[in-house]
Amino acid sequence: MTIDAPMQEGLSAIQAIDLNFGWSEDKAILHSCSLEVPKGEFWMLLGANGSGKSTLLRLLAGLLQPTGGEIQISSPVGFVFQNPDHQLVMPTVGADVAFGLVQEALSTAEIHQRVEESLTAVSLGAFQRRPIYALSGGQKQRVAIAGAIARHCDVLLLDEPTALLDPDSQLELVAQVQTLVKKRGITALWVTHRLEELEYCDGAFLLEAGKVVDKGDPERLKQRLMQTEDVED
Ligand SMILES: Nc1ncnc2c1ncn2[C@@H]1O[C@H](COP(=O)(O)OP(=O)(O)O)[C@@H](O)[C@H]1O
Ligand SMILES: [Mg+2]
Repeated sequence: MTIDAPMQEGLSAIQAIDLNFGWSEDKAILHSCSLEVPKGEFWMLLGANGSGKSTLLRLLAGLLQPTGGEIQISSPVGFVFQNPDHQLVMPTVGADVAFGLVQEALSTAEIHQRVEESLTAVSLGAFQRRPIYALSGGQKQRVAIAGAIARHCDVLLLDEPTALLDPDSQLELVAQVQTLVKKRGITALWVTHRLEELEYCDGAFLLEAGKVVDKGDPERLKQRLMQTEDVED
């Protein structure tokens, strides 16, 4: 069951309690999976390939329905996919951000204002008329984030948004999300397998075979994962 209602002041912005999910009845992907992200914080979700990270994010976004458990999430929710080419649909930057606002009853002036403000927030204020195809991967991800900011999203879910980026754009994007979270009171959950990104977050979760098995201080989790990698090598 998804309760899509404003949560009490001062609590978490994202809460999953004992989630269960499977693509078929005999193969569970998530088992009693629980996590909680405090309002206004930037948390990361780590885990091996196939551990269920993308599935969990899609459940939180309401793109999939759990077979058991409960989700509470502040809305609106913005989602940023690994590949921005699967997300950006319009020919230019400004048109793409404006397209995300079509379901809201806004005047043309309000749409212009939201587009401008959200693109400025991701340092793409001068890019409104640029064609999407002329952007770098990192710029495309920032357009996707601007789309969420334009919709005044409370929560931003990002599924390996840096997976296709070069190392410079990768760190630029993670630093920008950290700044946006702090400046605008957004709550973000960011999926990654790149341990160097952990220093930008307030906390992290470790998912193993569909269950959160550890959470908290990112530096401690980083040490834990580096030891595991050493053992595997
Ligand atoms: N559409 C789907 N149909 C069937 N199985 C899927 C589907 N998507 C993912 N899975 C399976 O669910 C498991 C978890 O996948 P996923 O959530 O994508 O993991 P992660 O993002 O951590 O790599 C994997 O075993 C994967 O093969
Ligand atoms: Mg994934």
